[in-house]
Amino acid sequence: MDLGSKDLLGIKEMSKEKILEIINKAQGMKKVLIKGDRTSLPLKGKTVITLFYENSTRTRLSFELAAKYLGGATSHISASGSSVTKGETLIDTGKTIERMGVDLIVIRHPNAGAPQMLAQNVRIRVVNAGDGMHEHPTQALLDIFTIMEKKGDLRGLKIAIIGDIYHSRVARSNIWGLLKMGAKVTLAGPSTLIPLGMRELGVSVAKSIKEGIHDADVVMNLRLQLERQKSAFFPSSSEYGKFFGMKEEVFHFAKKDALIMHPGPVNRGLEIQSSLIDGQASLINEQVQNGVAVRMAILEMMLGGENN
Ligand code: CP
Repeated sequence: MDLGSKDLLGIKEMSKEKILEIINKAQGMKKVLIKGDRTSLPLKGKTVITLFYENSTRTRLSFELAAKYLGGATSHISASGSSVTKGETLIDTGKTIERMGVDLIVIRHPNAGAPQMLAQNVRIRVVNAGDGMHEHPTQALLDIFTIMEKKGDLRGLKIAIIGDIYHSRVARSNIWGLLKMGAKVTLAGPSTLIPLGMRELGVSVAKSIKEGIHDADVVMNLRLQLERQKSAFFPSSSEYGKFFGMKEEVFHFAKKDALIMHPGPVNRGLEIQSSLIDGQASLINEQVQNGVAVRMAILEMMLGGENN
């Protein structure tokens, strides 16, 4: 099974069939992960570099562990600890990495389009681990996998995405992915944090968090991305929490068996109440585990075959 393209850059251009192929593969990888069975080493002799121009805990570590669990070697470059601080460009950095015998670069970058630019300028494979406010495709794949594990078919499910949609690459990749899978997507958040043109994508935009969550099967809360907010999008964090924070009394508007998701990292008590993060309905820890399985599936599909 192959990914069908040199690089994995986004969900927007990915077919529903390819999403399902990756998720099928991730189901098998999750069994390997849980059993701790490391006897199959499809990445033996392969090297994966994580090139991160922004901080990360989950995405970086899960890619590095995924490669190691499959027998590959990994190394990490952060912008702050590399020659990027001396003025080296992204393309020169990519070409330098390529010359060292690396097979695949996983890149996170603050600018939308940076992984695409890198992919066009190196022969080795590139995976987008989050580019600016554009896409975070592997997050959407792990989120879709997590929902399918609990709910089966996504067709007809109501998924509410709540919070800072404007700055969220997770929201964009999930909107494209969830709609392809047949889910109904509703957005809710302060009007200043809902970009114009969202309805044209095929989603609904609710007037309040209660309306957004009403009868939802899954409530996906987003992190308030204060580091990307160059101007004031709302009067204060406490006011945001009051009107758009997910609390027990608001979650009651969702279906009785509704599930809560959050890509992490979470601002506890701001965008979501602590008791909900740690409660029965929360899939947040499951998302983290599934992130490793999905990234194992992707690396195996991109580097594990005989032709790779
Ligand atoms: N969800 C996510 O991308 O988390 P990290 O920033 O920790 O990688």
